[in-house]
Amino acid sequence: MLKAEDNEILTRVSRGTPMGDLMRQFWIPFLIDSEVEPDGAPVRVKLLGESLLAFCNTEGKFGLIAENCAHRRASLFYGRNEGCGIRCIYHGWKYDIDGKCVDLPSEPAASDFKSRVSITAYPVRAHGGMLWTFMGPDPSSAVLPQFEWTGVPRENRYFSRWQQECNYAQCVEGEIDSSHVSALHQVLHPKEEYHATSIWGSSMRNDTAPSWKVDETPYGVALGARRDAAGGTSLWRVNHFLMPFYTMIAPEIGRFINMRMWVPADDEHTWGIGVSYRPETPLTAEDMYQLGSGPLSPYIPLIPGTMRPIYNADNDYMIDRQKQRTETYSGIPGTRAQDSAVIESAGAIADRTLERLGTSDTAIIAMRRVAINAAKALRDEGTIPAATRDGSVYDIRSHSAIMPDGVDFDDDPEFLRRMKMDRRPRELAATEPSR
Ligand code: FES
Ligand SMILES: [Fe+2]
Repeated sequence: MLKAEDNEILTRVSRGTPMGDLMRQFWIPFLIDSEVEPDGAPVRVKLLGESLLAFCNTEGKFGLIAENCAHRRASLFYGRNEGCGIRCIYHGWKYDIDGKCVDLPSEPAASDFKSRVSITAYPVRAHGGMLWTFMGPDPSSAVLPQFEWTGVPRENRYFSRWQQECNYAQCVEGEIDSSHVSALHQVLHPKEEYHATSIWGSSMRNDTAPSWKVDETPYGVALGARRDAAGGTSLWRVNHFLMPFYTMIAPEIGRFINMRMWVPADDEHTWGIGVSYRPETPLTAEDMYQLGSGPLSPYIPLIPGTMRPIYNADNDYMIDRQKQRTETYSGIPGTRAQDSAVIESAGAIADRTLERLGTSDTAIIAMRRVAINAAKALRDEGTIPAATRDGSVYDIRSHSAIMPDGVDFDDDPEFLRRMKMDRRPRELAATEPSR
């Protein structure tokens, strides 16, 4: 359980809250770059409780401005994106990507009123196929995170974005929680199931109570789960929580890599943004099948014209009680919908004062400690995480491997190399750059 005060610190993201101010020290990913095009339709993007509008102007420059017009508050979502600006359709006031009012046709031509009118605008950078913004005081104080996928060719990666109807921290917790895989995502007839065909899958299935080793790092925390595997070996699966809201989950050996960004729209809604990639080769046709519609797809279809998944709370995630008896543990179709059902049903902001945590929740406890301590350090001492100034700490992978019993993942140089680390995570943390 968590004290009520700490639950507030962990979950509240508006300006002026400890976590909201911490997140405003980082560049924040908010759209896939192909979602806006020059003079194309603007896209509503709620971020950290602020209603914003993203667009690409005539010159191909990206803007992220307040959604509502300074005049009488009409939404600029309906505006005309033309001539290097967005024009409000109510009375024609026009704004550029910096939020400055550049035309004000409803006032006399001689008036200098427009020079005194502007709306909020945040800087935008294109990086790795995504658009990023900085909502804090000084964009030059932070660098963009150098995730491995930001440097691979476009054909090596695949993005997806959707809306999650709960607080971001529940999404993060659901991802790093290795132990739920042994229950929530299981099928009842493993002989027909992909997972049953590998040591990885059978170990995930048969050892339902992993033991944990967690290491704090410059980017957040490395979360190692150990399960018994066949013949005196262990399956180590190491996930990462990367500040302020990223998760990396260890892929099955040979499969493409997934990373997720859980970007708070507001306290009770989150943008799920997923990227799947192969570091060295383009995604294969089989990968694309798995990503799009395969039984292990990490993504789910959306209601057309919205970012809302088809499987949602209004239809109980289309749970099928017959299938729950005979085919799958949950009866809910697809891993992503299964995850949504459990994290969203805990409430828009889970009341963590009522929880009963066990040893299987070690990773969750570690993630919360890292996040809450970072928010408090900023609030109480003005300490900004070093990861905001060193994007290279994000250039890591999660990894899983079968290892001899008695060897921890962070004692094995090969395991560390696979995670793109040259030292143990905690040794890296001890040498993080100072302010
Ligand atoms: S409300 Fe936008 S121009 Fe009047
Ligand atoms: Fe899951």
